[in-house]
Amino acid sequence: MTFFCAPLSFIKELEHLEQVYYFIAIGNGEIRQDISKRLGLIACQYATIIHPTAFVDNNVILGAGVAVLPHATIHSAAQIRNHVIINSASIIEHKNSLEDFVSISPNTTLCGAVTVERGAFVGAGTTVVQGVTIGEGTTIGAGSLVLKNIPSNCIAYGSPAKVMRYTRERTAVR
Ligand SMILES: CC(C)(COP(=O)(O)OP(=O)(O)OC[C@H]1O[C@@H](n2cnc3c(N)ncnc32)[C@H](O)[C@@H]1OP(=O)(O)O)[C@@H](O)C(=O)NCCC(=O)NCCS
Repeated sequence: MTFFCAPLSFIKELEHLEQVYYFIAIGNGEIRQDISKRLGLIACQYATIIHPTAFVDNNVILGAGVAVLPHATIHSAAQIRNHVIINSASIIEHKNSLEDFVSISPNTTLCGAVTVERGAFVGAGTTVVQGVTIGEGTTIGAGSLVLKNIPSNCIAYGSPAKVMRYTRERTAVR
């Protein structure tokens, strides 16, 4: 298997090749959305990459274009949708639901039945307690402790995490 990086303008040149899989290796979920829209590929053309030191339980659903980085752990019945990045040493507990284009930064723990909505970003070293929902397009600052639901399109951080300000509604690419 060969890996290489290509500018968008070059991607069309690859179409004649067989067995080419794509991965959008960009940490910002909003930019991942934009690029996936521009590429216009179907889900099965994206690779899902799991580092050999990561643990993914048997009954986890993993979407297309997902990265599970070193020492990350995903427990039973979690649902990880398309183009999600789960960074190093993060723990995704049972029955979590991570929607498209979510980014989980290193050393983050999501306790059971947490929902992270489309395009949300969870900063490094954060803990989210069980049953909490983080809204679409929201950013959780590094080192936060999230005890309650956080609405969409805002920046929240702290221990306990509080909404600090609202951001523009992202132009979601669906
Ligand atoms: C939260 C964040 C997005 C910045 O949000 P912001 O609203 O632009 O915040 P600012 O940088 O303007 O800082 C505003 C204040 O909040 C504080 N602050 C910023 N981030 C904070 C955090 N995560 N926790 C606690 N306080 C924070 C700043 O120190 C500053 O305080 P001050 O006014 O007393 O000086 C950013 O700090 C952050 O945490 N990003 C995540 C980084 C990360 O995890 N990257 C992983 C890469 S793999």
